[in-house]
Amino acid sequence: MIGTGRSDVHVTITGLGAHVPERVVTNGELSQLVDTSDEWIVERTGIRERRIAADSEALSDLSLPAARGALEQAGLDGKEIDLLIVATVTPDMMFPSTAAILADQLGASEAAAYDLSAGCTGFMYGLAQAYGMVAGGLSRRALVVGGDLLSRILDWTDRSTVVLFGDGAGAVVIEPAEEAGFLAFELGADGAGGEHLWLPGSGSRKFEDPDQFVKMNGREVFKFATRVLVQSGEAVLERGGTRVEDVDVYVPHQANMRIIDHATKKLGIPSERVVINVDRYGNTSSGSIPLALAEAQQDGRLQVGSLVLMTGMGAGLTWGSALMRWTAA
Ligand SMILES: CC(C)(COP(=O)(O)OP(=O)(O)OC[C@H]1O[C@@H](n2cnc3c(N)ncnc32)[C@H](O)[C@@H]1OP(=O)(O)O)[C@@H](O)C(=O)NCCC(=O)NCCS
Repeated sequence: MIGTGRSDVHVTITGLGAHVPERVVTNGELSQLVDTSDEWIVERTGIRERRIAADSEALSDLSLPAARGALEQAGLDGKEIDLLIVATVTPDMMFPSTAAILADQLGASEAAAYDLSAGCTGFMYGLAQAYGMVAGGLSRRALVVGGDLLSRILDWTDRSTVVLFGDGAGAVVIEPAEEAGFLAFELGADGAGGEHLWLPGSGSRKFEDPDQFVKMNGREVFKFATRVLVQSGEAVLERGGTRVEDVDVYVPHQANMRIIDHATKKLGIPSERVVINVDRYGNTSSGSIPLALAEAQQDGRLQVGSLVLMTGMGAGLTWGSALMRWTAA
């Protein structure tokens, strides 16, 4: 799916918030749990540490401060939100949705609220949905949360996955705008590759030997990721009528530093325009892109007028890009 949306209506991000759990887990600590080393993890992934939620924390606990931060920046109260989407693969529970729980906590009593599952690409799918609802006039003010506690679904004896992931959440408010905002989206899915990154025993499909943990074919996911980050980024730039040289801030999904480096070089984006947090947070799944956006805003890299390219990819296998002209001060 690719498109520029409506040319007569502008929709943008007006508020941004993020939250990570307090507990830092270093590579050194992981090397006491599984057969790995700081050297291996840094060389192969660029990750040095990640945040891991406390036993008492669930997704709504990480999402609530992120959502409040986004609302505050937009100058809104929770009750003014009429659409709330939580993109995640680790909701508090299967139902009620974490979005409904969060809507109640925020006082968004008039909001439609639901969770969305698109793996690590969930936040990008959520952005596109909220854009469509706002541009189409169904929603006036939407809140999109991307967050995960992947630590809950990892096999803590499997060194090939535990070193990669961390927990975190981010949120954005989406509203109509006078000008600028979202310029184009490109989203896709390749179900044939689903078995390369999956949680087989987590739903209604019965397996002889149900597995409760993430299973991953790292090499296949690596190949997929490097390919789609470049293809999707180029496609959305072309559809948005922009060139790669015009990109001021590039926010790729934070899965692995090698994947990011590869995509950045292929696309031809100078490294100082790339936002990186994988070194400190690991792969936070749906939280990755909004967390990175929030950091770029805090360190002053995201300015009013910046051309922002974001691309996510993950389980499904799915991918998604958005191109926008930043408007939030
Ligand atoms: C997982 C990943 C880091 C592995 O890196 P790699 O260079 O492909 O490494 P390989 O899988 O080829 O493994 C190389 C060796 O390291 C070993 N190894 C794997 N994990 C290890 C770890 N944490 N510590 C030490 N050794 C490890 C393997 O067992 C293998 O050993 P062998 O050669 O004796 O069989 C990489 O494939 C990757 O990042 N893939 C994408 C994953 C991803 O982003 N998933 C989420 C997408 S949203």
